[in-house]
Amino acid sequence: MQHRCWVLVLSVSLVCDMAVAETTITAVDSEDSKLVVHVTEGKETIAPEIYGHFAEHLGRCVYEGFWVGEDSEIPNVRGIRTDVVEALKKMKVPVLRWPGGCFADEYHWKEGVGPREKRGKMINTHWGGVIDDHAFGTHEFLDLCEMLDSEAYVAGNMGSGTVEEMQDWVEYMTSDSDSDMANWRRQNGREKPWRVRYFGVGNENWGCGGNMTPEYYAETFRRYQTYVRNYSGNRIVKVACGPGGLDVTWTEVVMEKAARQMNAIGLHYYVRGSGTWNPPGRKGSATEFDEKEWFVLMKNTLTVEDAITQTLQAMDRFDRRGRVDLYVDEWGTWWNEESGTTRGFLYQQNTLRDAVSAGIFLNIFNARCDRVKMGNIAQINNVLQAMILTKGKEMIVTPTYHVFEMYNVHHGATLLPSDLACRAYSFDGQQVPSLVVSSSKDASGTVHVSIVNLDAQRGTNLECLLEGGSAAGVTGRVLTADRMQTHNTFENPNAIEPATFTGVSIDGGLIKAAIPAKSVVVLAIDLK
Ligand code: AHR
Repeated sequence: MQHRCWVLVLSVSLVCDMAVAETTITAVDSEDSKLVVHVTEGKETIAPEIYGHFAEHLGRCVYEGFWVGEDSEIPNVRGIRTDVVEALKKMKVPVLRWPGGCFADEYHWKEGVGPREKRGKMINTHWGGVIDDHAFGTHEFLDLCEMLDSEAYVAGNMGSGTVEEMQDWVEYMTSDSDSDMANWRRQNGREKPWRVRYFGVGNENWGCGGNMTPEYYAETFRRYQTYVRNYSGNRIVKVACGPGGLDVTWTEVVMEKAARQMNAIGLHYYVRGSGTWNPPGRKGSATEFDEKEWFVLMKNTLTVEDAITQTLQAMDRFDRRGRVDLYVDEWGTWWNEESGTTRGFLYQQNTLRDAVSAGIFLNIFNARCDRVKMGNIAQINNVLQAMILTKGKEMIVTPTYHVFEMYNVHHGATLLPSDLACRAYSFDGQQVPSLVVSSSKDASGTVHVSIVNLDAQRGTNLECLLEGGSAAGVTGRVLTADRMQTHNTFENPNAIEPATFTGVSIDGGLIKAAIPAKSVVVLAIDLK
């Protein structure tokens, strides 16, 4: 862990804080936080894949979100809508996971290649019971990855598919030989194989992917992964199904029995601010919430750090050299579906609250980039914590999109260790740190600091010292709004978007930044 956060939660300082808060808000708002960034000490690279995405055949994520068909009046290239691709290219999508999710374990890929009019039709039993006519299949997905300049992360069907089917899929996509599968791909219009970097062997096999025990999953994983081969120079990373949330037993059993056969294991981590997972419709509203629900979401989001630490500890008991990487290959907020939308399509709005939560997640992933090598927020379009929302031919981007776009300066940069002293954000007698910060240095030597102030009420004056260097110039961008619930709509698509951050200056040897309440700020610092 390279990042240390000192939260001033000693009872004495809390009493002081509260006393001050009760008398003068201004004085509390001017209280300093301190950050020391060690600009010459970085060792670890922040894998761009930490900023990855996930597209499932679920609701309007793939169909309408990406796929509109070649004859659509919505501008498209080979059936994939241009507006969405252009917006995502600006944000950057280093890796895209597909076709699920729960859908992956009932997807039979052979139905989704060849002439579209001859493709099969299946019921998407997990998500709304709708018919999927396989218009978007392997060729369309890999075409999309090339448009986005993304690595492909294909999730294979272990729940209801055969070993042969999985083997054939990898060969179809990646082999340049004269084999039946490679020739079938050529017949279907693609001469050269694609590069497929990541392959998942099943998804949530403890649940929707077959309700397996960890022992059964591990044994079955060993068998299936044997046939996930490297063809024609393609080197595939094999990803095993890990736990849903913190589940040390699942992790330990799978690692004990199959660590040597995998390159990475996935962790799924969804968060909410109130209510319960079941029954549906009790997860809380995406847009109507109070500070209590804001606070609970922030608190729940911060727990991912402990889940990562404990999962890594469980992994390392059976992989002492830390060879197996951890991918948080589904994460994000999960709210009630918007009223008036199709049940099972998981369409939710996205406010400043979601953006702040995303900023925390990403800063924590950066902090653990020694072992966390991928993250895939769920999901890219129109589902859960989406980047993009569409309504027919209209498209808007969400506050979470803006965080990903602001943070893309961290892709491939070197994580810099930092020390942070910040006060606690207290609510209802509970406390969390008010700031979560991450610093990195990019290839050109620019230092970027992403700062999340999760306190819904209080800003802070942050003093930042660069240990081992000094600043020649600093600029910044900020994402915030007057209301916690602010979100973009089709009527008001720019209600919340990043602005130039004017509250930063260099003063002597320090960078001083007036960080607003409930905000995400990214600073760019040029060194002398
Ligand atoms: O992202 C929605 C669903 O959440 C996925 O299909 C599944 O893997 C998870 O439970």
